[in-house]
Amino acid sequence: MAILSPAESPTKVHARSTIELVGNTPLVRLESLTKGLRSDVYVKLESANPGGSVKDRTALSMVREAERTGALKPGATIVESSSGNTGIGLALIGALTGHPVIVVAGDTTSQEKLALLRGFNAEVVLTDWTAPVESPDNARNVAARLAADIPDSWRPQQFDNPANPRAHYASTGPEIWRQTSGAVTHLVASIGTGGTISGTGRFLKDRSRGSVNVIGADPAGSVYSGGEPGEILVDGVGNTWGRPDWPAAFDPEVVDHFVRISNDGVYSTVHRLAEEEGLILGPSSGLAVAAALEAARSAPAGSTIVAIAPDAGTNYLSKAFNRPWLEQNGITL
Ligand SMILES: Cc1ncc(COP(=O)(O)O)c(C=O)c1O
Repeated sequence: MAILSPAESPTKVHARSTIELVGNTPLVRLESLTKGLRSDVYVKLESANPGGSVKDRTALSMVREAERTGALKPGATIVESSSGNTGIGLALIGALTGHPVIVVAGDTTSQEKLALLRGFNAEVVLTDWTAPVESPDNARNVAARLAADIPDSWRPQQFDNPANPRAHYASTGPEIWRQTSGAVTHLVASIGTGGTISGTGRFLKDRSRGSVNVIGADPAGSVYSGGEPGEILVDGVGNTWGRPDWPAAFDPEVVDHFVRISNDGVYSTVHRLAEEEGLILGPSSGLAVAAALEAARSAPAGSTIVAIAPDAGTNYLSKAFNRPWLEQNGITL
């Protein structure tokens, strides 16, 4: 296949609004990491969204739906607890649709993400991200108190909001189908709320009459793939509280199987993606790509495996790309 330089690529029609830049993200084939494998592994670069992550899709879908139903009134404040990306997506969409945004973020959220939130003019309230649900300091309780005090405020509640997975059924899934001309055989995604894997996976299964295999990539410490909960060193993904309280946005029926990746596996994949593929991606992308490579080793030859890369590594320069942070956390590349 001839590779076009940017100047030779088909001209893009301009977007009428930044909102139109949400979605339609690129898909890139891995060249170096797949050497010796007999299947193709593609990465869907969600960092190309204007807020820098897959969560722009979710934020747009939830805000539009709430505006449509009247749950979110014109000019009303959006209050959400988020480890970062959903907050950033909401801050972006809020800025574009005239809604002030307050984000309750964890005290472990990277400085880069906090700066982005403030860059989009969101108000940031920091709280102890490890506070249990019964604690007043728990992020969701803090968000609930704030919302109770602000007239007409609206809480998207991404973990329980059906507009979260629906965003991916309506956009991420159809894009992957189109971009692979229907050849996709495997979808690999990390799981936070489960919106991405549930919506995208369900669409691809429906469209392929059930033939697309959906693989959940799970980090050490998360119980989506079973086992005991522990510390999770991959931002935005995994689950430590387990059944029966899976997020409503997560449809476990969609996942055919889980692949668990060690912290060393996640972060060494992040570094290999940067060094060998020229892709600066975040840890949850390293997680999904590591699981996709594992799937490629056992999949039938000629499979087309698509891994979702939720955001860019530039959000984690002080963590994933910072040797002292990696050493402090016992990670060996
Ligand atoms: C960096 C990152 N990766 C992956 C995910 C998982 O996406 P989802 O919530 O759709 O499962 C999130 C969710 O917040 C995230 O922030």
